[in-house]
Amino acid sequence: RTDRFERSVAMKWLTGFITRGEEWIEEGTTGEEQTERIRVTEDAASLLAVCSGTSSGPLMRTFDFPHPIIIHIRDASILSQDHTSVGLQTWGSSCILAQRMVESPAAYGLQQRGDGEKLNILELGAGTGVLSMVMAKLFTSDEAQVIATDYHSAVLDNLRANVSGNFDGALSSASHEPPMVLSLDWRHLHCIASSGAIRDAKPEAPFDTSFDIIIGADIIYEPEHALWIKSSVELLLKRDGRSFFYLIMPMRPTHEVETASVRETFPLAADVQKDHAGGGEEEGAMKRIAILDVSEIDRVIGTGRVDEVRYLLYRIGW
Ligand SMILES: C[S@@+](CC[C@H](N)C(=O)[O-])C[C@H]1O[C@@H](n2cnc3c(N)ncnc32)[C@H](O)[C@@H]1O
Repeated sequence: RTDRFERSVAMKWLTGFITRGEEWIEEGTTGEEQTERIRVTEDAASLLAVCSGTSSGPLMRTFDFPHPIIIHIRDASILSQDHTSVGLQTWGSSCILAQRMVESPAAYGLQQRGDGEKLNILELGAGTGVLSMVMAKLFTSDEAQVIATDYHSAVLDNLRANVSGNFDGALSSASHEPPMVLSLDWRHLHCIASSGAIRDAKPEAPFDTSFDIIIGADIIYEPEHALWIKSSVELLLKRDGRSFFYLIMPMRPTHEVETASVRETFPLAADVQKDHAGGGEEEGAMKRIAILDVSEIDRVIGTGRVDEVRYLLYRIGW
């Protein structure tokens, strides 16, 4: 780093290597070889950041969505001594779901329900907040209220900074209400849900009310997450037959257990209906949260990390 000539040659070489990285990773003949190539490419990117002196600083990114909705994001560096700070960066899943929701809001229930009430939208594990901010910019303050939640204090600080950067002054029209940023830990909701009958359990305000739409992007990446998220959705999703939880998950070769945990934890609606066909329980007690449909989305080059081979988008409801 101290020799300008050496540094410039190294940076040129690393830039060329990273530019060809995606192609090189895809040429790997086995999953193992591809994973190793991903690791090497990431190491090269970190080295390049060190050489250019940007490794510890935040990166400003601008996302352009149709409508038009423009979001400016501060992606901070993941804290090297804290692997739980992954929400300091924007993950491909949130951009993909935001793009789809902006393109066809009605297909995701993002429209007024004709009951005079504001649409109540909640994001779990919001990270940098792209998805929540896009939702807030789709509606006027009379039409919807968006709550962006996370549990990590540094992530929440960064999320608050992003919201004020996009909803203060000239960047925002006064008619859009900024998302409310609140701390919400799925573990805590799981404890509440496990401590008694779900219908009687109540988290504290404002989570003592139920939501029309719950969204989550790339929030299941540890084996226990699926169960915590299921409890959270059971406590927080409205039971009116038209309220849904949209969950988008990248399929990573290194996270097959977590990908499978969604199917193991959430039953398929068709299986739930079969179970009920023979039973004589009351209708209210019979309701179970289940996967209503799943769609597969191909990776778009340039969005998300190269190890995200495909995405699964689940629609989950009562
Ligand atoms: C991979 S990041 C995805 C962030 C964002 N949704 C995106 O797509 O850019 C996962 C997020 O889940 C949050 N998270 C992890 N465990 C959590 C928990 N127990 N309760 C609430 N949020 C949690 C993390 O802090 C992080 O922001």
